[in-house]
Amino acid sequence: MENIIASAVSQVGEGGQDYSPRRSPAGSFVIFGGGGDLTRRLLLPAIYNLACAGLLDDGFGIVAVDRAELGDDQLRQNVREALEDFAARRRADAVPVREDVWEWMKPRIRYVRGDFEAPQTYSDVVAIVGEQNCIFYLAVAARFFGPIVDRLGEAGLVREGRHTFRRVIVEKPFGSDLASAIALNTRLLHTLEEQQIYRIDHYLGKETVQNIMALRFSNGFFEPLWNRQNIDHVQITAAETVGVEQRARFYESTGALRDMVPNHVMQLLAMTAMEAPISFEADAVRNEKTKVLDAIHSLAPADVVRGQYAPGVVGGKEVPGYRQEPGVDPHSLTETYMAMKFRIDNWRWAGVPFYVRTGKRLAARKTEIAIHFKSAPYALFRDTPVDRLTPNIMVIHIQPTEGVTLQFSAKVPGPSVRLGGVRMKFDYAEWFSEGPSTGYETLIYDCMIGDATLFQRADNIEAGWRAVQPVLDWGQDARSLAFYAAGSEGPEAANALLARDHRHWLKIG
Ligand code: BG6
Repeated sequence: MENIIASAVSQVGEGGQDYSPRRSPAGSFVIFGGGGDLTRRLLLPAIYNLACAGLLDDGFGIVAVDRAELGDDQLRQNVREALEDFAARRRADAVPVREDVWEWMKPRIRYVRGDFEAPQTYSDVVAIVGEQNCIFYLAVAARFFGPIVDRLGEAGLVREGRHTFRRVIVEKPFGSDLASAIALNTRLLHTLEEQQIYRIDHYLGKETVQNIMALRFSNGFFEPLWNRQNIDHVQITAAETVGVEQRARFYESTGALRDMVPNHVMQLLAMTAMEAPISFEADAVRNEKTKVLDAIHSLAPADVVRGQYAPGVVGGKEVPGYRQEPGVDPHSLTETYMAMKFRIDNWRWAGVPFYVRTGKRLAARKTEIAIHFKSAPYALFRDTPVDRLTPNIMVIHIQPTEGVTLQFSAKVPGPSVRLGGVRMKFDYAEWFSEGPSTGYETLIYDCMIGDATLFQRADNIEAGWRAVQPVLDWGQDARSLAFYAAGSEGPEAANALLARDHRHWLKIG
């Protein structure tokens, strides 16, 4: 795992070793779905940012594969527009696209028109990439993952040479339940070795998510407290204000559980709860993540709340309910919100609930992990005006603000003993100057240099699905769907889930 963009400046260790990120090896970056939205919004801007940071080799090239009738020139024009829309302008200082970088990139972009299932498409790719290193990026609908990998295999495109690699990056969704995830893993592993497969979860591209491990394991004072002796419970929140947007077709059959929990939320949970790996080696980290996910106790219906947004007000604007959104069944039972109580049955966490919630159309966009510590004993304050002690909470803010806050009590100035809650805050953006980033730079670069730490191994994916499979098995049930007003904190039933344990959620809005 290398922190690349921000550290393009040389980093020299105490022993004089140079830890600056090195240039990626030469090779082709072949994007299936090269004309699609993900490519335009995230992949191309990320590649451009890597080029700006000087991290791409002169022998680097992009091959976009898609079905539209395009030529190299038209594609290059589209790429330029994508960079203007999504790379340069998204930066706070709105700098224009760097002409020197564009002149370098432009001739390195090629287009292959073809059907993803047709062998001819793959012969055309072979003609361009020859024996070079290749990364095949599957930025396509999930139903194409298997067929594309089969065809790559048949065309000999995944055969590695003595000094060349062939790797495949697979986007989400990786399966739609445990059985389909196992089936997809089996199918891919028929053609590819595990170390050739890079299963992406874009949450792992977020600096603040990567920082969880740095925070926990590079600071002496967290680890001794990070256990059931000191922690009362953990709350993980991934709240969005957006609704289903234009994705009704996908979302109707997916829902909040499949869309967010076995992947993004489980990654946050695993990062928070895993044991310290023995190194940053991919397998060392992934072993620990899988272990903690495997220790999750099977969910019971009482631990789960499924919700769906009703009409409401978001950001001062009236918005329709989920069932009124275009393309959504007016009687839909698809959930847009999930709250769950996970128990991790291991020595570190037994008895410490991990409450997670995620949903669309909530009061604010906020992804965070809140560690609630146990309260201090009260006896000392018996004879003071202090009637109770507020517990310490450490919040790791993932987005939109990135940082860490620590809440604790301090004496209010004055003659009597009164306590006030205070907050200490570390703000990422204030402290470190931010490089332009889409979150995909690190992931793409890591794949180029063969570092799979931030990608999911087959067993990680399956462990994530296994943890939520009981809920999928119960099926969608009208009685289990709790409605909440768009723009609210979520359904009342989610409050009840914590109230039952004499706890309450931190506020989202
Ligand atoms: C995606 C989901 O994987 O993650 C979307 O499919 C969701 O529904 C998105 O909106 C959230 O990502 P982020 O980075 O905005 O938190």
